Amino acid sequence: MATKYRSLVILTGAGISAESGLGTFRDKDGLWSKYDLRDVATPEGFARNPGLVHDFYNARRQNLIAAQPNAAHAALALLEREWRGDFLLVTQNVDDLHERSGSAKLLHMHGELLKIRCENCGDIRPCHQAIDLATACSACGIPGYLRPDVVWFGEMPMGMERIERALDACDLFVSIGTSGNVYPAAGFVAEARRRRAHTVELNLEPSESHSLFAEARYGPASEIVPAYVQELLA
Ligand code: OAD
Repeated sequence: MATKYRSLVILTGAGISAESGLGTFRDKDGLWSKYDLRDVATPEGFARNPGLVHDFYNARRQNLIAAQPNAAHAALALLEREWRGDFLLVTQNVDDLHERSGSAKLLHMHGELLKIRCENCGDIRPCHQAIDLATACSACGIPGYLRPDVVWFGEMPMGMERIERALDACDLFVSIGTSGNVYPAAGFVAEARRRRAHTVELNLEPSESHSLFAEARYGPASEIVPAYVQELLA
């Protein structure tokens, strides 16, 4: 590896999984054009209508189980294997396509769709099947308290201390397939710039925060991410 950079933070969003058949949120036909996020992605929505929220995540879980990682996920796993410095892949995605490709230095800041959490006893465990209000927690045995282990709007993203430490130390920050609409992730590029890191956007089109990046490549993730990784490792 001949790169001049020593400490890399990568942020991914729904765009990296789009070619795997998982919908994005804000593109035309995205999830937020079909659902009101206040109904399915807030604690208030879950309190109002937990059945609707379970149905929404049950359907997304089934889609995810049928989906396969694409060349962009594979390229980031290769980059992690070859990288000699500090490395952290932060994903806003709740899918498991990064880990299925072999990524390990990975942080799911918005949680994981294939995990379920009990709001009664705090137990968190893998979940590949549909759940509903009658499903009992495997740990405490009480039904009605299970929820997807994902972060909803108004809740604290996961792993922020580790992310802040990595951003503080990074000299290269690469953002992939995210529209730059949702904070705190949308603010990472500004934090990286304050640390004088080189900043790169890889996206289908310029994101909301494109002007903050020093460098950009536009096109489908399955093409531009492998090409960029080859350049970094050349
Ligand atoms: P968005 O749907 O907001 O943005 C997806 C981005 O991916 C857009 O900028 C697209 O242009 C780009 N894109 C689409 N197809 C692509 C492709 N084939 N290759 C490369 N880029 C492509 O999704 P996110 O930015 O991930 O949070 O959304 C951030 C958060 O908002 C999500 O984690 C979720 C959502 O509400 C919560 O639910 C808490």
